[in-house]
Amino acid sequence: MRPESIALGDLRVRRLGFGAMRVCGPQVWGWPKDRANALAVLRRAYDLGHNFFDTSDAYGPQVNETQIAAALHPYPKDLVIATKGGLLRPSAPRWDRCGRPQHLRRALEGSLKRLRLERIDLYQLHAPDPKVPLAESIGALAELQRAGKIRHIGVSNVSAAQLAAARRVAPIVSVQNQYNLGDRSSEGVLRACEKAKIAFLPWYPLGAGAALRAAKLKQVAARLRATPAQVALAWLLARSPVMLPIPGTHSLAHLEENAAAAELRLTAEDIAMLD
Ligand SMILES: NC(=O)c1ccc[n+]([C@@H]2O[C@H](COP(=O)([O-])OP(=O)(O)OC[C@H]3O[C@@H](n4cnc5c(N)ncnc54)[C@H](OP(=O)(O)O)[C@@H]3O)[C@@H](O)[C@H]2O)c1
Repeated sequence: MRPESIALGDLRVRRLGFGAMRVCGPQVWGWPKDRANALAVLRRAYDLGHNFFDTSDAYGPQVNETQIAAALHPYPKDLVIATKGGLLRPSAPRWDRCGRPQHLRRALEGSLKRLRLERIDLYQLHAPDPKVPLAESIGALAELQRAGKIRHIGVSNVSAAQLAAARRVAPIVSVQNQYNLGDRSSEGVLRACEKAKIAFLPWYPLGAGAALRAAKLKQVAARLRATPAQVALAWLLARSPVMLPIPGTHSLAHLEENAAAAELRLTAEDIAMLD
């Protein structure tokens, strides 16, 4: 039996989450032209059963968190919002790492304000900063957790060794790394999450759309009368019980299509073909 939900510390969420980044403007910068559509996608995502949303202060930047609050505040009781800090966006193409404790403390205050929360359920270090010891960045998040501003800490874009180092500083409930049918470079980190019984959030679960062109995927989709995106997501859900995919879209039609993947079951034969 495939588990329908997953634990994030003391929280439980349904296993198909929603990545909110795509409702920003082009290049994840500013608002999109159709602002009403962005808010409608966020509301519909919750109505379709996604009760785990992933965002970051870097998306927009700041815009994505504001959009989530505009669409869904006051939040339904079961909605878990995960955000991240540790990246700077001085211009649209730049995603500069900044893991200094002082920056993370300031970033968290900004996220709390924009999301209209007193505590963030899951706060993730967006990426380790090579100029700052990881223990210092995670240590700053642990302090904020002790101060009651963070419920659970997660990490993103880490190696298995960095995950182990982070776990020596504070309890870590999740890892968010790139992973999909066509890119399994984080397989070792996924296995480390299984061993530690913590959630693995694959970003680019659809390979940003590109993974959907694979011939095998199309073949399995045709056999199941499903779409390639649905099969790609069902494959992730079947791949590991700790997998919590966060597909993103700015399209209501794609949102409906992707949400239905939670119900799709692949046979052993389908999985063998995709593996
Ligand atoms: N931690 C990190 O460093 C990091 C990096 C990147 C992303 N993320 C997180 O991961 C989430 C997911 O990543 P992502 O949005 O970049 O990648 P993704 O979910 O793999 O792909 C989204 C792209 O695929 C398209 N798409 C979605 N559903 C589709 C469907 N059913 N059929 C065809 N195309 C479809 C979307 O276009 P349309 O909008 O036209 O549907 C969009 O361009 C983000 O929202 C964000 O929360 C984290």
